[in-house]
Amino acid sequence: MNILHVKTPEGEYPIHIGAGALDHARFDGAGVCALITNSRVRALHAPRVLAALRARGFDPRVIVIPDGEQFKNLDTLRAIYDQLIDARLERSSIIFALGGGVVGDVAGFAAATFLRGVVFVQMPTTLLAMVDSSIGGKVGVDHPRGKNLIGAFKQPRAVIADTTMLATLPDVEWRAGMAEVVKHGIIGDAELFEILETRNWKLEIGNWIARAIRVKVEIVARDPFERGERAKLNLGHTFAHALETLSDYRLRHGEAVAIGLVCATWLAARRGLCDDALIARIENLLRAIGLPTRVPREFSADALFAAMQTDKKRVGARLRFILPRAIGAVALVDDVPMAEVIAGIEKTR
Ligand SMILES: NC(=O)c1ccc[n+]([C@@H]2O[C@H](COP(=O)([O-])OP(=O)(O)OC[C@H]3O[C@@H](n4cnc5c(N)ncnc54)[C@H](O)[C@@H]3O)[C@@H](O)[C@H]2O)c1
Repeated sequence: MNILHVKTPEGEYPIHIGAGALDHARFDGAGVCALITNSRVRALHAPRVLAALRARGFDPRVIVIPDGEQFKNLDTLRAIYDQLIDARLERSSIIFALGGGVVGDVAGFAAATFLRGVVFVQMPTTLLAMVDSSIGGKVGVDHPRGKNLIGAFKQPRAVIADTTMLATLPDVEWRAGMAEVVKHGIIGDAELFEILETRNWKLEIGNWIARAIRVKVEIVARDPFERGERAKLNLGHTFAHALETLSDYRLRHGEAVAIGLVCATWLAARRGLCDDALIARIENLLRAIGLPTRVPREFSADALFAAMQTDKKRVGARLRFILPRAIGAVALVDDVPMAEVIAGIEKTR
C-alpha cells in the first residue's frame, strides 16, 4: 500500500494505491451517500465496495449509468441529479465514483455542481483512470459538438486506487492505460520506463503503479488549472487526436497515443532534441505491450496535419508540440514548421 498526497489550491488529499487499498483507506463521513457506477462495474465490484461503505457507517444509494463514452453526456447527468434529489443527498454528503474515466468524469461533474458542490471520492477501476483521469481534478461531460466541452475543476476528497479491481479488466483496456503509463515514464520518470522494459509489467504492477501516478500528481500540483506545465501531459496527443478523428474512432485513444509517442520522438530526433536511438527504445516498449506504433498507410500526412489544426491545444496559429529529449525529460516547442511535422508522420509509417 502506498499513499501519495496531492497538493491542490484548496488543500491536500490522499491517493491510496495498491492491492486492498479499499480496505486500508480511511475516509470519514457517515449517513446517506451516493455510489455512482456503470452497469458493468456494478456487477463486478459494487458488492465489495458497498460492504466497505456500510462497514464505515455509510448508507449508500447506488446510481447506475449505462456503460460507454456515448453516455458521458447531459442526459446521463440529468438522470443522476434526479436520483441524488430522490436520495436526499445533502451538502455534506459524499458522492463516490466507482468505474473508469467515464464514470469518474460524469460523477465528478455531478459532485461539482449538485447543491453547488458536494464531497467527491474517486474509486478508479481502469488502469487509465488510476494513472490519469482520476488525478488532477478535471471533470465533465461531452457535447454532441465535441468531447469534454462541458466541465469543471473538482478536486476529490480522496482517491482509492485498489489494483485488485484490475483483475477483471480486459486486455484491450490494460493496453490503453499502458500507453499513458509509458507516456508518464517519458515525461518524468526514467526508472518507471526501465521497470516496464525489464519486468513483467502486468504481474508486477505493484512495483510501478504509484510511480506512474506520481508523475501526473507532481505536474498537476505545480499547474492545477492547466496554464503551463500541465501541457507536458499532452505528449503524443496532438498526433493522437488527429489519428482518432481520421479513423472515425476505430483507433482507440491509447492506440493513437502510442503511435503519437513515436511520431513525437521522430520529430524530436529530426530537430536534434534527442538521439535516434530513443525512437527504437520507445517503439520497442510499446510493441512489447501490444500497442501499435506506426501511422496507418490509409491516412495521408496532409490529412493528419489538417486534422491537427483543429486540436484544442493550439496556441494561436502555431502548433504546439511536447517532444522527448530523453527518457524522463520533455521540451515544449511552439515553432515546428509544417514540413517537419509531415516528415515526422512519413517516417513513422
Ligand atoms: N478527467 C481527466 O483528466 C481525464 C483524463 C483522461 C481521460 N479522461 C476520460 O476518461 C475516459 C476514458 O476512461 P477509461 O479508459 O477508463 O474508459 P471507460 O470508463 O469507458 O472504461 C473502459 C471500459 O472498461 C470497463 N471497466 C471499467 N473498470 C473495469 C474493471 N475493473 N473490470 C472490467 N471492466 C471494467 C468499463 O465499463 C468500460 O466498458 C474518457 O471519457 C476520457 O475523456 C479524463
